[in-house]
Amino acid sequence: MDGRELVRSVREFGSVRGLRAMRSAWRQRRTDARGLPPRGAERARVPGQVQGAEPLPGGGIIRFARSELRVRVASGGTVFWGWDGAGPLPSYALAGEAPEPDPRAVLEPDKDGGWRVVAERVTVRVSRHGAVEIRTPGGVMLRRDLPPRWWEPVHGAAGAAGRASAETATEGAQGQGRTGRWVQRSEVPADARFFGLGGRASGPRLRDGTYRLWNTDPRGGGFGPEEDPLYITMPVQLVVADAGTHLAFHDNSWDGQVTLREGEEGAGSGHDRAGASEVRMGGGPLRCWVVVGTPARVLHGWAALTGAPALPPSWALGPQHARWGFGSEREVRRVAAGYRERGLPLSALHLDIDHYDEHQVFTVDRERFPGLPGLAGELREQGVRLVSIVDPAVKADPGNRVYAAGRAAGAFVRDAAGEEVRGVVWPGDCVYPDFTDPAARQWWGGLYEERLAQGFSGVWHDMNEPVSFAPFGDRTLPRSARHTLEGRGGDHREAHNVYGLAMARAGYEGLRRLRPEERPFLFSRSGWAGMQRYGGTWSGDVATGWPGLRASLSLVMGLGLCGVPYSGPDVGGFDGSPPPELFLRWFQLGAYLPLFRTHAAIDAGRREPWEFGPEVLEHARVALAERERLRPYFVTLSQLARLTGAPYVRPVWWGAPEDRALRDCEDAFLLGDALLVAPVMERGTRHRAVRLPRGRWYDTATGEAHEGPGQVLLGAPLSRIPVLARAGSVLAVRGADGGTELEAWAPAAGRTGGGLVVRDRGDGWESAEIERYTTRLADGRVVVERVTDEGAVAVEGPVRVRGLAEVAGQP
Ligand code: GLC
Repeated sequence: MDGRELVRSVREFGSVRGLRAMRSAWRQRRTDARGLPPRGAERARVPGQVQGAEPLPGGGIIRFARSELRVRVASGGTVFWGWDGAGPLPSYALAGEAPEPDPRAVLEPDKDGGWRVVAERVTVRVSRHGAVEIRTPGGVMLRRDLPPRWWEPVHGAAGAAGRASAETATEGAQGQGRTGRWVQRSEVPADARFFGLGGRASGPRLRDGTYRLWNTDPRGGGFGPEEDPLYITMPVQLVVADAGTHLAFHDNSWDGQVTLREGEEGAGSGHDRAGASEVRMGGGPLRCWVVVGTPARVLHGWAALTGAPALPPSWALGPQHARWGFGSEREVRRVAAGYRERGLPLSALHLDIDHYDEHQVFTVDRERFPGLPGLAGELREQGVRLVSIVDPAVKADPGNRVYAAGRAAGAFVRDAAGEEVRGVVWPGDCVYPDFTDPAARQWWGGLYEERLAQGFSGVWHDMNEPVSFAPFGDRTLPRSARHTLEGRGGDHREAHNVYGLAMARAGYEGLRRLRPEERPFLFSRSGWAGMQRYGGTWSGDVATGWPGLRASLSLVMGLGLCGVPYSGPDVGGFDGSPPPELFLRWFQLGAYLPLFRTHAAIDAGRREPWEFGPEVLEHARVALAERERLRPYFVTLSQLARLTGAPYVRPVWWGAPEDRALRDCEDAFLLGDALLVAPVMERGTRHRAVRLPRGRWYDTATGEAHEGPGQVLLGAPLSRIPVLARAGSVLAVRGADGGTELEAWAPAAGRTGGGLVVRDRGDGWESAEIERYTTRLADGRVVVERVTDEGAVAVEGPVRVRGLAEVAGQP
């Protein structure tokens, strides 16, 4: 026991909560000592030599001396493989059934006794020892997964099949295969770069190192770039190389770790060292999905597999403001009035746990918030929605209505002895709904009725890693805690990483039942692969400081590449007081991210834009106005994310993964196809270098044209960050009259361009129509046309052409 941690926890939570947390941590240790099987002697197993194969649609089963491998290529080129009988289901990540096998993909003998499946977009080769290679149709290697290794208890291991005994390796029900500890090494091309693994503060390019897969609320008041893991971890690797881009997803929610090492090229010597990945899991199936293609195709395939991102209501694409500690209705009114009186747009205000009655979820402090529905209605008339925090932990108090009902419904997580598992969170001793139980999800979803009755328009899920405060050990539930896992049964080692995802499902489905005519607005601190089906996320408690600003961009980009397109940071940072310049730069970045929300801790300084002096206020006003002007573009991006899986915020290599310099560029991003945003991430910066993808780019502030690929130095005065527009692009923006107009950027001479527009259809479910536009030059003029089934037609409505002066060579 670390004395400093104790002192910190006492100071952090007050002595009562600190002591409770201490007790709870000891309790957790005892629970696990009783409830987890001891790890005895183990024996390693590898697949051994190939024995034969059996073809099945899309591939087949390849048998080895001590295991078997199922390979299946789906239409579209998505590959599934699973060892030891593991199939695609059950899975928390998948949106539904596994995709249909490609009828043309057949299993056939390969050289040296191996087997292969040749499909239109991909070739899978399995060596006679069980290495799995994913190759392009041209035969170039994208990934090579080496034969895995399992560890199983020695007692009970029997025969060639290596059937292992009870606790750590059991015959998995419903196609999960046997489970046990395993490791798998993989090779990727020497030039490859790794991205993904969920929300990582140090990315988006993942440097050499070990990354844990265990959703975690970091200790302390705010995290920086060195903090790992964070709230959302996913066994998802996105790998970008000259040979192509691929995504590999080890569908396994257990505690694990991934070690990455970038490769090295032998500068023409022919001695390249491959890039390497090593995935180690504490249990669970060894199965993987691999999606190959261009980045856009890969993300499309990933969304087809794990589900289309939920479409936020359009108000959730506007500026939002939160605070832990508004403390009263009066203060909420004061902040709303502050925005209104200064003419600053505001879409939503978020109420944190301080509006609860003694921090208890689904309650209201009636003294300080006596008329929430009235307040909500009043704000709604001003165009401001209220969003509520929702924490999963329920105060273990018989007088608490939610506790009594959940207990009666048997909805809370229990230990191996059948007792409710207790933890400590804001309200004190708490219990945790088992969101892996469909009945518990159904019950929990119904509780959102109370939030809707209070006038809230959306929910903000927090503390759902899940957290239990502890001065030592893991700040979560005991690993031996039992979970329903959709009826299969299991413990927290398997359920932990999907807890937040399953909570999001409960909330999302509840809101849909309760208010079927409106799209739910939900974002969640924790989650896992597939969480985008229910909503978005945010950075969590990112530390105030320039490194925190950088980390917040890395999180948004990395999550987007894992299929979660809607996110954003606590603008200004969670803790402390940002200096005005830092706040402004963060605000300017936030204005171009999907979730644009200021937020801070209860003891942090102010975050309202007028609290940083008149200069910051004026520049923040410009950022807000630009965000509002771009609202139709954000609506389009949200719709395209839903339809195609492409994130709003994309690394600059998105359309040009072959440009190696772009792969290493982490300080700028593409917002959709049309814009390139280069935030300022260092103090005192007034100019910054921006690396451009190929083609012509216009500085949107000056109109100046720059030719990519290459690097340019652009002005970044305090009043703005550099934003460039791609020549030829068309985007929808809000015109001066409030209506939508098209903004078209002149194509370079001899080139054409275009863009997609999806118009806002309100906050219901009306399906959206994609409008396609093209641009070309004719006699020095920019011609914008709409592409329809009948061919190109003239555009109805206003079009604003920009960048023409450069094309025409006029002054
Ligand atoms: C957690 C959240 C933070 C919130 C606080 C109080 O730290 O990450 O956003 O303000 O809890 O609810």
